[in-house]
Amino acid sequence: MPFTANRRFKAAPRLLERAEGMFYWDTEGRKILDATSGLWCVNAGHCRAEIQQAISKQSADLDFAPTFQMGHPLPFQFAQRLTQHSPTGLDHVFFTNSGSESVDTALKFALAYHHAKGDTARTLLIGREKGYHGVGFGGISVGGLPNNRRAFGNLLQVDHLPHTLDQKRHRFCRGLPPYAVEPAEALETLIDQHGAGRIAAVIVEPVAGSAGVIIPPEGYLQRLREICSAHGILLIFDEVITGFGRLGTPFASQFFDVLPDIFTTAKGLTNAAVPMGAVFVSDTVHETLMTGPEEQIEFFHGYTYSGHPLACAAGLAALDIYEREALFSRAAEVAPAFEEMIHSLAGLAHVVDIRNLGLMAAIELEPIPGKPGERGHAALTAAFAAGLLIRVTGDTIALSPPLVLEPEHLAQMEKTLRSILESLA
Ligand SMILES: Cc1ncc(COP(=O)(O)O)c(C=O)c1O
Repeated sequence: MPFTANRRFKAAPRLLERAEGMFYWDTEGRKILDATSGLWCVNAGHCRAEIQQAISKQSADLDFAPTFQMGHPLPFQFAQRLTQHSPTGLDHVFFTNSGSESVDTALKFALAYHHAKGDTARTLLIGREKGYHGVGFGGISVGGLPNNRRAFGNLLQVDHLPHTLDQKRHRFCRGLPPYAVEPAEALETLIDQHGAGRIAAVIVEPVAGSAGVIIPPEGYLQRLREICSAHGILLIFDEVITGFGRLGTPFASQFFDVLPDIFTTAKGLTNAAVPMGAVFVSDTVHETLMTGPEEQIEFFHGYTYSGHPLACAAGLAALDIYEREALFSRAAEVAPAFEEMIHSLAGLAHVVDIRNLGLMAAIELEPIPGKPGERGHAALTAAFAAGLLIRVTGDTIALSPPLVLEPEHLAQMEKTLRSILESLA
């Protein structure tokens, strides 16, 4: 099983069988409030009838069509609809099947862009410590989580920015930590070390999710943008988690008012009903690749299932729901109550930090000495037993509920979290 202690899991499995709205039901019949949108992906709530019907209809009309030197209308329609929500200037879409594929695609776009410009020395990619960019070889190379790389090594030329989690100064910070100059200026140091002319791109999650909801300090992303622009380096935002309304805007780039050159998405794209990812690229990147003889393939990349009909149908139906229910701005309305709820847990035993932005939050627990991750695992199992699905990375609980949550769900989350945290050894 993915990212699972398999033997421990098999000894005491947690099996989900059915879902609807804000809830799952497990094979024991237990009703479980979903505080994680599945895995940061079911943004509009579970089993939306419209999406299910769209998939069903599409599977009867056109199950599959190749998209190599061929096509079908749906990816074009979907791309066109999506770009009504993406920041102006990022109007070109390439479909993938997952976040990991989106990341690898984005990195390849960056390398291909410089190559097309004749800037062939720009092959170095800069990621960030604690970054998670999926599990492809590109993603683990730029990613900054050592466990994900230890057994596999680095196949790309990469270096890493420092992470932005400053727990000396910013524990229990609500929203963005105050401006701090050091983390972004570290990019200048890397440029001095490697030479700007060797660096193709910088990739960061606008808010780091998987490593435990790490919120960037004020002005950080703006400063990365300035430095990248000054040195001809592309800036890639990995929006696999932050995309599709998580922060109260369609994408994090709009929340932070910082335009990347390329950004990745997946997860909420189809409300997770069919696996799919999408990479958005700027007009400049697109136009640079659309050169050379017209009979030649411009970008030697793609997947059999890029723009799969069922995924497009699911994505179009999900977008209808997001638009009709104004879900891209809903997190902005609910975030203050969510923030109050989560910070009301400060002061409970073992809670050493709480961080939040939009509808993302982390509760960091003090590790049991000599047993990192055990307290987090105990929280996960206790919460599940009490009817609450949380996500745990090490000893950090991450919450990212569906955007359709109501006050009663917040109240249930608080009550369950409080009682399990009070009972943890
Ligand atoms: C920021 C980010 N990028 C990439 C991925 C990888 O996505 P997938 O698991 O769909 O390959 C994830 C998954 O959590 C993610 O959070």
